[in-house]
Formats: sequence, structure tokens, C-alpha cells
Amino acid sequence: GDTDSPATDENGVRRRDFINIAAVSFAGVGGVAVLVPLVSQMAPSADVLAESSTEIDISQISAGQAIKAVFRKQPVFIRNLTPEEITAANKVDVASLRDPQTLAERTKPGKTNWLITMGVCTHLGCVPLGAGEGEVKGEFGGYFCPCHGSSYDTAARIRKGPAPKNLEVPPYEFTSDTVVKIG
Ligand code: FES
Repeated sequence: GDTDSPATDENGVRRRDFINIAAVSFAGVGGVAVLVPLVSQMAPSADVLAESSTEIDISQISAGQAIKAVFRKQPVFIRNLTPEEITAANKVDVASLRDPQTLAERTKPGKTNWLITMGVCTHLGCVPLGAGEGEVKGEFGGYFCPCHGSSYDTAARIRKGPAPKNLEVPPYEFTSDTVVKIG
């Protein structure tokens, strides 16, 4: 059964992986301030767990909200951008970016509001804040990595800090208007 033993329970194994990720994040900061987001990050309600490819119901994610899923044991952020966040992303001079990509290149045609990226900082792999935690988005409105201060914009492109690349877009497709299949 699913709940017989923590040692063999699938969710238990995944939870431990998540705690390991959180521990890495925490080790880089050494402050109590990030403890709350890291704990909330482990809340089951914010996570959709999966080993490989998975179909995720996105019908409950309204504009301005994001959830954290797990794909191949790594976090994935699924974010429903607001019109303002889309406008902000499209206003950026792409040529000036460290890793030049348009929002359109990072999303699917006709669904540029759905920003789906790995939740893994491209610097040293911490989990950036701004999905599931809700509030910590950094000065460019996207994600903020607490480990060494990388800030990503509303298209999850690196804008400031040591990370060399944008948050990676995993392989995914929409199987309907309300279901996305990661992997
Ligand atoms: Fe260093 Fe994110 S891991 S800034």
C-alpha cells in the first residue's frame, strides 16, 4: 500500500529528495529568513509528484499563480502569467540578455501565458523562490534564487546574479486546454 512504510512509500522517497534539495538551498544562505519558504515548499498541496512524464491539471492555476511539480526528481515551475507579466517580458531588449530568448521561444504558440520551466537555478542548482511560495519573485518579477542572489524575470530569464542561463524549459505538451504533460 502507499502508506505502509516510510522507507518504501513512493511519496516518502520523493519527499526525502525534496528535503535534500531544500537542504542544499538552505546551506547556501545560513539564515532563518528562508526557512519558512523552504518548509512551505515541502507542503504536499504545492507539489505534484512524478518520476517521469506526468499529466498535470492546470485548470486551478489562475493568472499570477504558480505551482511546483516534480519531474525526474527535480522541481518544475508551472506559472500562469498575468497580462502585465507577459507585457513586461515582451518589453525587454532581448539582444541585451545574457541568454537571449523571447517569451514566445520559451512557451508554446497561443499559450504564452503558460511558463513552464525547471525550478533549478542554472548557477549551482538551488531551487529559486517564486513558485508555490507566492511572494518572493525578486526585482525582475519572476524568480529569485536565495543561494547567491540570481534574479530571473517573468519569462524566467536570468537578469542579475551569477547564474549563466535562463531556467531550463523541459519537454512538455498540452494534451488539452487544462492538462499539460511534462516529459
Ligand atoms: Fe547560486 Fe542560484 S545556485 S544563485
